Amino acid sequence: MKIWTKEERYRILKSADEIRPLHERIIQSDYRQHYHIQSVTGLLNDPNGFVFHNGLWHLFYQWCPWGAVHGLKYWYHTVSENLVTWQNKGVCIRPDTEYDNKGAYSGSALPTEDSVYLYYTGNHRDEDWTRRPYTCLVHMKDGGTVQKLRPLFGANENYTEHQRDPKIIFNEQNGKYYLIIGAQTKDKRGCIIIYTSDSATENWHFAGELKVIGFENFGDMWECPSIESISGYDVLIFCPQHIRLAGRGGAVHHSGYLLGHMDWENLIFTPDNTSFHVLDFGFDAYAAECAANPDDKNKATLVAWMGLPDAAYPTDEEEWSGCLTLPRELRVRNRRLIQQPLDGLRQLREEKIDPECTDLLPRVCEMEIISRGGNLTLRLFARADGSGGLVVTYDDTEKQITIDRSQMNRRFNTELGEQRTRPLPKGLFHLRFFIDRSSVEIFVNDGDAVFSSRIFPTEEENRFEIDGDVSVHLWKLKRAVQDNFIVD
Ligand code: FRU
Repeated sequence: MKIWTKEERYRILKSADEIRPLHERIIQSDYRQHYHIQSVTGLLNDPNGFVFHNGLWHLFYQWCPWGAVHGLKYWYHTVSENLVTWQNKGVCIRPDTEYDNKGAYSGSALPTEDSVYLYYTGNHRDEDWTRRPYTCLVHMKDGGTVQKLRPLFGANENYTEHQRDPKIIFNEQNGKYYLIIGAQTKDKRGCIIIYTSDSATENWHFAGELKVIGFENFGDMWECPSIESISGYDVLIFCPQHIRLAGRGGAVHHSGYLLGHMDWENLIFTPDNTSFHVLDFGFDAYAAECAANPDDKNKATLVAWMGLPDAAYPTDEEEWSGCLTLPRELRVRNRRLIQQPLDGLRQLREEKIDPECTDLLPRVCEMEIISRGGNLTLRLFARADGSGGLVVTYDDTEKQITIDRSQMNRRFNTELGEQRTRPLPKGLFHLRFFIDRSSVEIFVNDGDAVFSSRIFPTEEENRFEIDGDVSVHLWKLKRAVQDNFIVD
């Protein structure tokens, strides 16, 4: 495994030609995705600035051009008309000022009539490597020009250097703008600090720390916070770090949410019960970002990084890593967030395959399973002798579903645990699998639970096996991302 020096990781990209050969090499990889946004070269992590504006969805990602390493971060820009097919647009925010000299870190977007404002964290480091985060602003005009404005404010002295990932929120009730920012208190507790202004672009001041009742001591840093209003609830989404959760193996960084009520006047979030809900039960999901739905204020669309901090993936040696999850529509049902694949994904269905006639599993496909009850065992990417693969089991006595990736040839991040289980008190009735060349997303019971995971099947792992009282539908899916080299 390559050891990166600081100079290599934080090298500034001067010309696209420096990474063109890398791109040409990695697009040969067997694991390049066909309908998930993935890094043009190097590493992709968080989705950023997800927004609908003037008929187009904009979605950016954290990008380090040089390889599968967290180094100098840029915002890479992709666009879509339908949230299904995506086009690369190129680099949008470069870390080229003193305020963001060591990275343009995560953030969010605010659409206006004829432009979009992008709020992000400028990761400044002094010569001695002391970190000073700035909350920065970019104006992206419809004509395509991108202008960096002066940073809105610097670090808050009362918290540690860990202050980042501004989410912009406009409160229609009181006409104020809020920036909610992930932070760490000096006694190392994760929290959210809030700034406010009457204007989106100036006069920002510190409003206070968000009181999240019952979560005063929950992990040592909260990354990527957001408050969404969905089906009449306020949903606080965030990523607590360095904390273990039951059923999550050795993982210490999580993506989850609390359902409750946000009091913007007093900056208090009151969860309606005491549980932190995991957003995604799979192995690889983090740093979710939501876009408001332009037609329905009670819905939002969520996308996450299909990866984890401090984790390694088999494509690291090919010098690229990371992709985003499919966008998912959010609703609240029975006081839980429901995540459903978008209807538009049906456009990707190409050829319907009769599962009675073959046990070969296409590398890019959708599978739907309707259960008539009882236990189920499913192996995706099993070997020819029926062994191995990603094993999905539903145990009707225990009423729980489990995914297990320990039997695949390429195992990775094993110390985080190789099984994930989710109780299904009402049983299993429906599964939808979205399989791409190196990932699987499983939507359980119509969005009741989602499992997102990277998997890296080898050539001999190409079958599927199903044991249960079920009907199965299988479609090959079309390509929806163009793996083209647009870096300028
Ligand atoms: C989460 C995160 C953010 C930060 C970004 C840097 O994965 O650590 O907190 O802004 O990644 O790439």
